[in-house]
Amino acid sequence: MSTMKKRLSVNNRTHDVDVDDQMPLLWVLRDELGLHGTKYGCGIGLCGACIVLIDDVAVKSCAITAARVQGEITTIEGVGSPREPHPVQLAWIEQQVAQCGYCQPGQIMTAIALLLQQSAPSDHDIDRVFASNLCRCATYRRIRRAVKEAAISLREGNDNA
Ligand code: FES
Repeated sequence: MSTMKKRLSVNNRTHDVDVDDQMPLLWVLRDELGLHGTKYGCGIGLCGACIVLIDDVAVKSCAITAARVQGEITTIEGVGSPREPHPVQLAWIEQQVAQCGYCQPGQIMTAIALLLQQSAPSDHDIDRVFASNLCRCATYRRIRRAVKEAAISLREGNDNA
């Protein structure tokens, strides 16, 4: 075990950290940077609670060491704002997706990554991508509706841009 210095770019801010070289990104985000929106679920890459974006790709932050990270990290704290929520967040509110809410940051990050890749995902696309995002409250149908609503909103926004 050894420590390492690492420069990370998170939500468009640069952070210099000095951490164990085997420390998962999840713990750097939560314990070193105080970004508690990214959740710990299983810790072994199975549940999706810890998903963040790295260069717009959904990544399970428990399953990658901070040492290996290259690129811009986006956590739920970097998505939208209270005054101007992201279209995915608005759709989540509109569809009342969250129940207990614990897994929802990971679900929302997965939705954003999907919609950056596909502007009009089918039910099959959504189910495939969300297959490794577990929700104990089983909000899957509401997630599907919210993803489709956000997709429409984003497409309309792009058409008006
Ligand atoms: Fe990372 Fe479950 S906490 S996938």
